[in-house]
Amino acid sequence: MPGQPGQQASQGQPAMPGQPGSAAASPFGFPFGTPFGNPFAAPAGGFVPGQGFPPGTGVPPAPGMAPGVYPHAPAFAAFQGAGAAMAMTPEAGAATAAPEAEPAVSAWTRNAPFTATLSTRQKITSRNAEKDVQHIEIDLEGSGIQYQPGDALGVWPVNAPALVSEILERHKLDGTETVKLADGSEATLRDALTHHADITQNTPTLVEQYAALSKLRPLQELVEDRKALDALLATTPPVGLFAEYPHPLPAQQLFSLFRPQSPRLYSIASAQDEVGDAVHLTVGVVHLRHHGQHYMGAASGYLGHLLEEDDDVRVFIEPNRNFRLPADDDTPIIMIGAGTGVAPFRAFMQQRGAAGATGKNWLIFGNQRFTDDFLYQAEWLQYRKSGLLTRADLAWSRQGEHKVYVQHKLQEAGADVWQWLQEGAHVYVCGDATRMARDVENALLDIIRTHGRLDEDDADDYLNTLREDRRYQRDVY
Ligand SMILES: Cc1cc2nc3c(=O)[nH]c(=O)nc-3n(C[C@H](O)[C@H](O)[C@H](O)COP(=O)(O)OP(=O)(O)OC[C@H]3O[C@@H](n4cnc5c(N)ncnc54)[C@H](O)[C@@H]3O)c2cc1C
Ligand SMILES: NC(=O)c1ccc[n+]([C@@H]2O[C@H](COP(=O)([O-])OP(=O)(O)OC[C@H]3O[C@@H](n4cnc5c(N)ncnc54)[C@H](OP(=O)(O)O)[C@@H]3O)[C@@H](O)[C@H]2O)c1
Repeated sequence: MPGQPGQQASQGQPAMPGQPGSAAASPFGFPFGTPFGNPFAAPAGGFVPGQGFPPGTGVPPAPGMAPGVYPHAPAFAAFQGAGAAMAMTPEAGAATAAPEAEPAVSAWTRNAPFTATLSTRQKITSRNAEKDVQHIEIDLEGSGIQYQPGDALGVWPVNAPALVSEILERHKLDGTETVKLADGSEATLRDALTHHADITQNTPTLVEQYAALSKLRPLQELVEDRKALDALLATTPPVGLFAEYPHPLPAQQLFSLFRPQSPRLYSIASAQDEVGDAVHLTVGVVHLRHHGQHYMGAASGYLGHLLEEDDDVRVFIEPNRNFRLPADDDTPIIMIGAGTGVAPFRAFMQQRGAAGATGKNWLIFGNQRFTDDFLYQAEWLQYRKSGLLTRADLAWSRQGEHKVYVQHKLQEAGADVWQWLQEGAHVYVCGDATRMARDVENALLDIIRTHGRLDEDDADDYLNTLREDRRYQRDVY
């Protein structure tokens, strides 16, 4: 395997406030040293990308497992050290990326997906975390699929058998009834609800049609009231609607209520130069409760809990040419991500490590709590230790008196952000589109105004130019 992370020449020793191992307070509100230990100490028993488990840990490498693969192992426990913001060493300026021709992806598409297999799954939030985030590895052997860091994987979900059964029971059907699918072919109702219908996402149309078919007066009144309808949609999955407003429908009417199933996209968290014929994902499982029952999102529940190892999963690559590493390996990058938004940055680091890229890499990552939600903690610390990761700033939103978000870290480091921009840095943002991405953009504009001494219009122009030059790219959802 060419150029493992960890082979990268060190880009200078960390020089940081609150030296790890010292009693000084870290910038993240944790004292370094006990109880979290030294984040830069040698791994105490965790998996290290490109190196595997240290001898004596009793964790053998899985047969055929590529370096960088996350096996079932206590990787989360590998480092309980706080991350730290590192001072960076200024380097020479960098070139601007230009869109370039890319190799064809593969013959496998949304409508003709490849049947891959799930090879590994591991929860990467702690037992106490509010979020359930699963690291997923899918074997692509035999597909010929090629992807680039920045691409997404499309996954066709298979609906949960328990959810299909509950919907059937609520309509007093046994699932053996025959229904007509959108393409005119026939299937049993159970098969149709399992594979062909989106039975997890509620829509105004679904509620309106159900109100019309059921002729239930309270539901008909509800759909006339936009606010009440929105409130119902925000909290009620289709099965919850059937539970709250029972009215058994015949098989075809029931099936026709639902939109056709659609694949869900996941930012790819691996680089093929590192993992070969595999693809890694970082899946935040959607859990919800209604009428005393627990449900999961169709695709996140399927990937995160329902699929068993070696089970089939239908996938395809969704290329994203608007989220690409700079063409020039010397160019510095600033990666800003919250929650599962960290996924493509893991791919970026694997790629830069494999390529022996010399450009500086800065991660600004935010999540709820350091102890519970530091996704890929051991890997980031190892990258930091090897020098591949030049700087890491971490924002924990639920462990202090005040919310600390990635944009706060960005603003605190405004002078350095501006300096990196002068050196030609590319800026990447990944994660929540509605709140985080908007606030990060405002923080960037503020930095450009303050440190570039530009007025509002000129700062807007500056950011637009970065965007046009492909130096400001977002993968937000
Ligand atoms: C380009 C792109 C990249 C993405 N990358 C990732 C990624 O790397 N990791 C990742 O986890 N997701 C990612 N997503 C989101 C992912 O595609 C799904 O939307 C998500 O997993 C929910 O799908 P589901 O099938 O599990 O839930 P659904 O069955 O679609 O939804 C079930 C119910 O939950 C609600 N819901 C949906 N999402 C959430 C949520 N996050 N929190 C609360 N309620 C919700 C829905 O409104 C619905 O009521 C990405 C999306 C896009 C467009
Ligand atoms: N469709 C939906 O209903 C829905 C709901 C949630 C997430 N999502 C999607 O799922 C993606 C990933 O979710 P996730 O659970 O991994 O992460 P997330 O919900 O985006 O949370 C990650 C971190 O971002 C913080 N955050 C909240 N508001 C922020 C803001 N305005 N600016 C910066 N940071 C902010 C959160 O803090 P706090 O939570 O402590 O405030 C948390 O620390 C999101 O990006 C989003 O697109 C969808």
